[in-house]
Amino acid sequence: MDDSDKHNRSQAITIKAETPDLGFETRECMGVEHSEPCTIVIFGATGDLTARKLIPALFNLYTNDGLPEPFQIVGCGRTKMSEQKFKDRMKDALDAINILNHDKWPSFADALSYRHIDYEQMDSFSNLSGFLKDLDEKHGTRSNRIFYLALPPILYQPVAQMLGQSGLGNEKDNHNGWSRVVIEKPFGRDLKTAKELNQSIGKYFKEHQVYRIDHYLAKETVQNILMFRFANAIFEPIWNRRYIDHVNILASETLGVEHRAGYYDKAGVIRDMFQNHMMQLLAHTAMEAPSQFESDRVRDEKLKVFCSLRPFPIEKLQEYIVLGQYDRGEIDKKPVLAYREEPDIDSDSLTPTYAQMKIFIDNWRWQGVPFYLISGKRLAKKITQIVIGFKEVPHSMFRKTLDETIDANRLTFGIYPDEKVTLTFQTKNPGARICLRSVTMDFSYHQNYTGPVLDAYEKVLIDCMLGDQMLFWRQESIERCWSFLTPILNECETCGNRSEMLQFYESGSWGPQTFKNI
Ligand code: BG6
Repeated sequence: MDDSDKHNRSQAITIKAETPDLGFETRECMGVEHSEPCTIVIFGATGDLTARKLIPALFNLYTNDGLPEPFQIVGCGRTKMSEQKFKDRMKDALDAINILNHDKWPSFADALSYRHIDYEQMDSFSNLSGFLKDLDEKHGTRSNRIFYLALPPILYQPVAQMLGQSGLGNEKDNHNGWSRVVIEKPFGRDLKTAKELNQSIGKYFKEHQVYRIDHYLAKETVQNILMFRFANAIFEPIWNRRYIDHVNILASETLGVEHRAGYYDKAGVIRDMFQNHMMQLLAHTAMEAPSQFESDRVRDEKLKVFCSLRPFPIEKLQEYIVLGQYDRGEIDKKPVLAYREEPDIDSDSLTPTYAQMKIFIDNWRWQGVPFYLISGKRLAKKITQIVIGFKEVPHSMFRKTLDETIDANRLTFGIYPDEKVTLTFQTKNPGARICLRSVTMDFSYHQNYTGPVLDAYEKVLIDCMLGDQMLFWRQESIERCWSFLTPILNECETCGNRSEMLQFYESGSWGPQTFKNI
């Protein structure tokens, strides 16, 4: 496809986002750029992720003209099953979430196939390679392939190895087009295992072929942080230690461990939420402006933040970290079990389901500013937000008139459920006496916008097809974050007073004691 074709196609699917009330110009911003033709191979095609997220995302993209033409989807799994049965299952999965479009389904189903595979057998992968070549010839998918590992992490290394050894990882070679591998967290369980994983994937795939997903990065409201910071001139001069007192990053959940005991009890909240999502929220808040909005320039700046994290003082860990585990309580007025009573969780488990950390970034911009990170399960409310707490006024001319202190300004990035940016400031309360009141100025992210919004998996699949790695983790950043967190994991998991470090909190509460400023 030449450039003008590409341009015409993306114009054809442009949807107008109108913002009449605000008096803004109408902007065209939903145009989905099409990638080259490709085949998406899903390993773990009979699993939950494929049915709940991947096929729905691909189907939505298809119905909104967001997939390339032509495309093919090949589901691979250990279960022996006919192609028709696989298609029926996927159809049921779409129906279950009410997105099945009966007009579009038949042509989508034509592009679906299923292959039985043994992840440890080279024959299986050689057969797959032959099958993919046939598909390319038949449908013109140009040997461009995405291999999505919707598998338990223990299979990442063997599958990467098989892909590599069968030649499926090679690019522009042996008639192959591009070849990309997609993996989900956890990327290892500590620095050592993350390095091993990276090394073994790196034997067969170059870094530009590896897409490590963090679904927080695909959230519109998280991407908005960079636009807000770097497309507005007025915030940059005050975005530093002179004006900012502290930053709070919160990701609280009401859900408990659900059906993931096997994974979660070995992981705990630090691996599950901090090593990935919380670190990305921190990086978006603290990074410098990249010279260009381009994948590697943005990721370079994030890496610099990770390199500047001040190591925790192990001898005074309790001043910097609070760990907790949920006890019985109520969520939505219904009684819920304690973590230790959940199915398949040990009755004496010491796995933390809650953590608070006080983190410092050792660079000029942030020296001395504490970043408080909190995340936990079974808390009072599901909220994800970043609050920038500014310093108080340096001198109050109202000190003789007001008997209370003046609240400092706050800027809040609401990520969930309130998708908005809020600035809190002081105004005069109407009346004869001098009284101040805190008021807010809000921008709701969906204000004046009624167009479609991409789900996180739709966004990552599109970016992966387009070869844009901006929203994916780079190997070095993962290792930097693990080297920051691994010492405290070691300390918390092996130290003698491990149980003393763990505070139990009632489900439905806001968790254990907090540091000042939270
Ligand atoms: C996942 C964690 O990565 O993120 C889950 O494994 C957690 O434990 C989830 O519940 C939270 O994501 P979100 O988008 O609901 O905030």
